[in-house]
Amino acid sequence: MCGITGFTGKEAALPFLLQGLEKLEYRGYDSAGVTLVDAKGLYTVKTKGRLKDLRELLANEHLPQTAGIGHTRWATHGVPSNLNSHPHTNAKNTISIVHNGIIENYASIKEELLRQGYPFVSETDSEVIVHLIDYYDKGDIFEALKKALRYLQGSFALCVVSTANPDTVYVAKKDSPMIVGHSSIGSFCASDIPAVLEYTKDIMTLEDGNLAVLKADGVELYDFAGNPLPQHWTHVPYDLQAAQKGGYDTFMEKEIHEQPHVIQETLRGRIVNDDISLNELDQLAFPWENLERVYFVACGTAYNASMFAQDLFRHHVPKIPSFALAASEFRYGSYYLSPNTLCIFVSQSGETADTLAALNRAKERGAKTLAIVNVLGSGLARKADVTLYTCAGPEIAVASTKAYTTQLVLLTCLVIKMSELLGVARENFKELIDNLKDMPKIVEDMLKEKDQVHEYAKLLADKHDAYFIGRKMDYFSVVEGALKLKEVSYIHADAYLAGELKHGPIALIDKGTVVIALATQADVAAKTISNIEETKARGAVVILITTSKQNTDKFNYVLRVPNISPYLMAIPVAVLLQLFAYYAAVIKGCDVDKPRNLAKSVTVE
Ligand code: F6R
Repeated sequence: MCGITGFTGKEAALPFLLQGLEKLEYRGYDSAGVTLVDAKGLYTVKTKGRLKDLRELLANEHLPQTAGIGHTRWATHGVPSNLNSHPHTNAKNTISIVHNGIIENYASIKEELLRQGYPFVSETDSEVIVHLIDYYDKGDIFEALKKALRYLQGSFALCVVSTANPDTVYVAKKDSPMIVGHSSIGSFCASDIPAVLEYTKDIMTLEDGNLAVLKADGVELYDFAGNPLPQHWTHVPYDLQAAQKGGYDTFMEKEIHEQPHVIQETLRGRIVNDDISLNELDQLAFPWENLERVYFVACGTAYNASMFAQDLFRHHVPKIPSFALAASEFRYGSYYLSPNTLCIFVSQSGETADTLAALNRAKERGAKTLAIVNVLGSGLARKADVTLYTCAGPEIAVASTKAYTTQLVLLTCLVIKMSELLGVARENFKELIDNLKDMPKIVEDMLKEKDQVHEYAKLLADKHDAYFIGRKMDYFSVVEGALKLKEVSYIHADAYLAGELKHGPIALIDKGTVVIALATQADVAAKTISNIEETKARGAVVILITTSKQNTDKFNYVLRVPNISPYLMAIPVAVLLQLFAYYAAVIKGCDVDKPRNLAKSVTVE
């Protein structure tokens, strides 16, 4: 998740650009850079590494320029390096840009620009933007930018400066966040509010399709065609710490609400012509016809995501044995490994000690390794043969929420692609792919249930235990729901296969016991409902999560999920169960972001 800052005004730009980037450090980055501009030219300094490395390079310079742009990059196209860092400039060194997002059609634009003789120096998708603006620049940079915007597909928050108009910063936004701000010293832009708060609390959040022109004395707002737009400014009432929470009370609440966006980001570029695109798999050079077995290996929530992947894979490719395993077991267990084994490691941090040790063991035995991680350049990402990134952004709350749902999304894409490579016909995946495309909206709709979930969470206020039950693909959802409740609310929670209830656990059900039951799997929903009836008969208070197809007349507490593929129910269900755990913890007054005894990244065994 890159960070952007921009300034034009009556004071030197550099102090704001750097402090703003520091405020955005939480987004994660691997390189940083700035361009300062005045009538004499552009001055660009960028480097792989941390902001302190950039500060050192700038330390002995006198840099009074009053306009500039800054960037921290989290590599997506091209490794972290000085050349791939932003800003990117044109060959004449008259235009400079910084960009967040992904230009999906960069390859075709690049091909055309190369034909026109444009020299490319980086491996990034972003570099095409500066050359495209240069291509259209006939003396009016605003016109050139408008023309370039017509060709850019994908997501972008974009800042442009040029020597032709050295007092102006141009900002364009589509599907990547960007705000602008203004004060008596000038105009600002940034990819998040914390970057500007020390300088101004008067901000305007840009909408998709907005083109803002920043000048020292104010901001003009246009659409991409150059038509003026009305401006909606707000005065931010909160301080810096609150701003990093984006107006939410806690990071966990913020991260739960970010899910529609980060799922969209994780899917970006992954569905092309109704098929899954995972070019990274080519680098594996795996002999698919020889594949002997697949292991999904992870810890905690990521392990629950792995159980999902195991079931999805087993359903589509039953002839190849597949197993989800806890990394702490895999690293010491006697599991068959060979060069024809594929081991898939799933982790938010990419630094979990057990998962890293499991990967080392798989490599020692000659297995092929693939990592699904959220943190760029993390240990797993560096060591695995191939890495796929979830694009959840920094997850700060200890309890994993958005990392989990993005793992489910990316694992679905991976399982579909692997199944196709193993000979399963593409038609089998139509429903899954359609559902994936709708998933940001589906999750958005689930978030609208939060008041209802809050009410139901009150049922737990004076309880010490809760039981979660489900069958088939609902099983690992209840395991994850119980884990979430335990870790943030400290309420003891157990998850059981609904059909196993009467083989022991039902002894625990008593008058007032809270049972959270999932019945989203149409073919076994009736069976689960009869298991639930058994708990009700013993006095349980049942919260039922099911689809609109299910008759729920006999239930007082019901939450509905949409009628999507049973294999993807886990995603909307996860959102409801995260909210449930969150509100139960809030009601009990727990520190939801930092539960006792837990660390965000478990780097010890
Ligand atoms: C639970 C949680 C943990 C992590 C586990 C693995 O909410 O966050 O169970 O999922 O410690 O961490 P990563 O995914 O970083 O390997």
